[in-house]
Amino acid sequence: MTGEWWRHAVIYQIYPRSFSDSNGDGIGDVAGIRQRLAHVAELGVDAVWLSPFYRSPMHDAGYDVADYRAIDPVFGSVADVEALVADAHGMGLRVLIDIVPNHTSNEHVWFQEALASGVPTMAHEARTQFTSGPWSRYHLVRGEKSGTAAPNNWKSNFGGPAWTQLDATDGSPSGWWYLHLFDPTQPDLNWQSAEVRSEFEDILRFWFDRGVDGFRIDVAHGLVKEPGYPDDHSAAAIAVSGDNPPAPQYDQPGVHDIYRAWRRVADEYDPPRVFVGEVWVQPASRLTPYLRPDELHTSFNFDHVRAPWWAPGLREAIEVSLASADAVGAPTTWVLENHDVWRAPTRYAPIASDPDGSGFTSLLDTSGVHTAPRDLITGLRRARAAMLVMLALPGSAYLYQGQELGLFEVLHLPDEVRQDPAFRLTGGAAIGRDGCRVPLPWSRDGQTYGFGPADSAASWLPQPSEWAALSVQAQLGHSDSTLELTRSALTLRRAQSALGEGELVWDDHDLGRTVLSFVRPAREGGEAVRCVIAMEGSAVTLPGQWGTVLLASDGPLVTDADGHLILPADTSAWLSIPPSLPTPIPAV
Ligand code: NOJ
Repeated sequence: MTGEWWRHAVIYQIYPRSFSDSNGDGIGDVAGIRQRLAHVAELGVDAVWLSPFYRSPMHDAGYDVADYRAIDPVFGSVADVEALVADAHGMGLRVLIDIVPNHTSNEHVWFQEALASGVPTMAHEARTQFTSGPWSRYHLVRGEKSGTAAPNNWKSNFGGPAWTQLDATDGSPSGWWYLHLFDPTQPDLNWQSAEVRSEFEDILRFWFDRGVDGFRIDVAHGLVKEPGYPDDHSAAAIAVSGDNPPAPQYDQPGVHDIYRAWRRVADEYDPPRVFVGEVWVQPASRLTPYLRPDELHTSFNFDHVRAPWWAPGLREAIEVSLASADAVGAPTTWVLENHDVWRAPTRYAPIASDPDGSGFTSLLDTSGVHTAPRDLITGLRRARAAMLVMLALPGSAYLYQGQELGLFEVLHLPDEVRQDPAFRLTGGAAIGRDGCRVPLPWSRDGQTYGFGPADSAASWLPQPSEWAALSVQAQLGHSDSTLELTRSALTLRRAQSALGEGELVWDDHDLGRTVLSFVRPAREGGEAVRCVIAMEGSAVTLPGQWGTVLLASDGPLVTDADGHLILPADTSAWLSIPPSLPTPIPAV
């Protein structure tokens, strides 16, 4: 387990609430992850990333952390996590865990102690921030003498204002407001405070000392806010910071010092521990500074997840992503699904108003687009094709649990089971993210399709009946299943030295604006590999000799009378290219 594995790893995201439930309470747990970890190892991935399992009141599914050094009882204990890390290492899997440094839960002792100390009224203060005492130490609190107005116009990512006024000790409005870029139960931390900085370095060490290989950093671009807290005149949405003008809550120059300090902590370990940042910035070039050699090793690249089902759009997303990381010698990461976005088969499913199935919706989308009838068969076909393209790109890639099963977004959950704070804070206008968090189906039968034991309580979100046919049991051993496609792709990715790290060269042969084709040049004595995808429209015949099919997203592929390969619409393939063939194919 040496080397810079993170430059080419495939990392499987486990969402603990929904992976596997060992005790039948309807909620996944760490012991459940241990029971099912062999499934992940047998897929052929290199590492897992676990979404938060810390003690939490769960107002944002654990992204509201009440104690960074304790596990929520619903998930297990620190000892369970240590055992999970040991199991994973025994199976050759590295383990990344989530850290949430932008905000805590309001039940965290730092916030609770400050509350217990009382809140003076602004009438007694001539300042806009506390310079001593409990309120100066951890959270971001600003004073506003007018009393009634918030310090600025910032909005919460879940809907509503980003500031909540604290009550003074006598119960009157204090004129002091705490910031929450997310739910009101998630107060933002003040990263100008030395105590916050040293606490987090200590938390990193706490988990590194327990064997974790690295962290995924939540809202990594949000920790430092623009001095003076000006109004936000950007059109920032879901924490996406853009250039025009930049949002004052995100991507501030001061954030980089924090990651330089964190990198020093990671480098104290042997082997060095690693970071992947959740950095929603636009354009992709704004990612580059985060990836400098003394900052984060990698960052998610969300241009990929937002790319439409349209070949020039996908190519552009790939090019800008590669350029932003290449500029500082960092690997690119690729992601099509996670616990915050619609699952790919649903995103790519054509609907009447969007036949290309671009499908990326913002968290606060209130258009009602989720009610439109969708062609999920085409959606799944496209998701499989997109997965093969992702796994052929240079760098590392993320798979979200259930992506290997081709699960679709559960759009029609009853209102009363929805738990995403975005649903609540928008009064139900935005459906939120519960639909990609429905517990996994492991078997065809049983009341939770094997998610929990036979006598389990109902799962925390109901699984649709289609889950039976998409379960692991139903797909295993069926060569045309999405599960077997994923396993084959990951096996090939390991066997083909051209895949993973390395160069990408576009084929210039013009097959029209619906086809993308690129070559991964030969490395380490192996053969070059071509990946080609037909994204829309009708089947494409590949002229000349393009290589031998290694794998197709839907197959088997057929050839025409001249032996030319026919690639149906919404299909991708990997071809091995013997040294006798040109790479890349020149323009004609
Ligand atoms: C990003 C996480 O991925 C999301 O699930 C969470 O709600 C927000 N950050 C706030 O922590």
